[in-house]
Amino acid sequence: MNKYNKFYKEVKGFGIPSPFFIDNNKLYKENVKNGEVEFISRQVPYITKCFDDVEENNVQYELKWFNDGKTYNEVVPAIALATKREVILLANKGLSSNDRNARFLIEYFDLFLEKNKMKWSLVVSHLGYVGETFVHPLLDSNYRIVPPDEGELQRLNAIKSSGTVEEWIENVLVPLYDNPKALFPVIASFASILFKEHDLTPILVDISGISSSGKTTVQKASASVWGNPSKYISSMLTTKTAIERMASFLNAFPLILDDTNTAHDPRALQQMIYMFGNGTGKMRGSLEGSRGTSSWQSVFITTGENNILEYTNSQGSAARVIPITNFKFKNKDQDYFALMNKSVEKYYGSIGVEFLKRWEQQRDRFNGRFNEVTQTYQASASNNDVMRRIALHYAFVVFVAEVLNELFKKENISIPIDDLEELFSMICSENNHVDRAKNALVVILEELDANRNYVFQDYLLSNGIHAISNQNGLFLTIDFLRRKLKEDQSQIREAWKSNELTVRQKQNGKLVDYKTITHKGQSFKVVQVNPNFIEKEGFDFSIQSR
Ligand SMILES: Nc1ncnc2c1ncn2[C@@H]1O[C@H](COP(=O)(O)OP(=O)(O)O)[C@@H](O)[C@H]1O
Ligand SMILES: [Mg+2]
Repeated sequence: MNKYNKFYKEVKGFGIPSPFFIDNNKLYKENVKNGEVEFISRQVPYITKCFDDVEENNVQYELKWFNDGKTYNEVVPAIALATKREVILLANKGLSSNDRNARFLIEYFDLFLEKNKMKWSLVVSHLGYVGETFVHPLLDSNYRIVPPDEGELQRLNAIKSSGTVEEWIENVLVPLYDNPKALFPVIASFASILFKEHDLTPILVDISGISSSGKTTVQKASASVWGNPSKYISSMLTTKTAIERMASFLNAFPLILDDTNTAHDPRALQQMIYMFGNGTGKMRGSLEGSRGTSSWQSVFITTGENNILEYTNSQGSAARVIPITNFKFKNKDQDYFALMNKSVEKYYGSIGVEFLKRWEQQRDRFNGRFNEVTQTYQASASNNDVMRRIALHYAFVVFVAEVLNELFKKENISIPIDDLEELFSMICSENNHVDRAKNALVVILEELDANRNYVFQDYLLSNGIHAISNQNGLFLTIDFLRRKLKEDQSQIREAWKSNELTVRQKQNGKLVDYKTITHKGQSFKVVQVNPNFIEKEGFDFSIQSR
């Protein structure tokens, strides 16, 4: 009876609207005309609070009832109390609603709301930024977070803290100091929540390397900044929509997906990179009415055995990904991994909360610094198109590393900043193919070089013409390019043209990359490769070289 007393205390301020009444903890209704009494339901539901979603114009209610020694507490959209079908569905949550009593319950809820003055509170359906306010479940705000679904609820429940700031630093961060490839995603996890404030577009940090190299371990360390890693990291999100929903719920918190590059086919990966990089999902309709457009400004940490960019062929993808390739820990044994995997499950979340608080108080100290760091990185990526585009995001993560060193000076955080700079040069050189378009051309030239039977010079070829070589240069046939580059053709050719890897031709007053040439009496529509590029890359397709 103790538990019932507790429940009773919570609801005793609420009145049951007539003609409904309670008898022996059951709900009845009196027929006003003939005085007959009708049994309605085994339980008496109370509407105890009212929530107004500040962004989406939708109202939700907190519903409470007592059954079989247990208090039930559910937050449901207004429609769940207003239509028969939805009221019956509440049976799934344990309420004794059914086909018979649903219409009475609708009447009851309606009268209940009229009779009782409800406490209103503001709710949001996602974490992170609501206007200028940052919503974190462990920090006070005026908002109550009501996740749209089970998956999001699980993520919300993951954002907890365990252990102290000092313990996290000592047991999770410090052991990663000698591995910048591991430090980077962890710092990116902090940086994620400052993206909006600094007007940065979303970006992927992709960790790739052989099996058992420690990728998942590093993802756990990254997740431990904000909460319980095993609950925070998803491996089940395989559809674009699922990823979109989670990114939108997390809003500013990092989205961390394990084995991303294995669970998705190349096409889906490319779409995923684009969608995430754009920071908005599709407009969705749902039972609860229009949910509006979902959006986020955050970091997406992915892993796989291969660089995620290997699966995509376009310039656009590369500008949205910071690839951490050939991932490994040097000189670490099983004990190290065992300890790290244990530590991240013991120490988490406190550092994130403290970071937010200190940033809030001290952000002015860092004015202008991000710009300086950006300039350095943009200069050092100057001869690599795509690296130049991700230099801004990379610089931001380095900036956040500096911020961490300052904010947690007292706790002796000292992230080796120089190593991150070195890592950047390494990424630049290791990822020459980050320059996708250029790489695609190099691959084509290598293939033609290795197999001259497809290059039409003096004699007509029987097995297909991929290119024509004559005294004017090397020409790739449009037909060959179409087959080779598939859906990326126009994007890649555009990049070749703008980087002058191909020769611009005048056509009706416009600059294009193609023309028609005549060779040995046959005409071909072709794209000419810039002779300087051929020479610079060390190829020679001239007739004498055969
Ligand atoms: N919970 C754990 N306890 C002890 N060792 C672990 C645990 N999880 C992973 N390891 C070890 O850590 C190393 C790295 O594993 P993991 O991070 O899963 O690599 P990857 O994701 O790159 O395949 C492996 O040697 C693995 O056996
Ligand atoms: Mg793994």
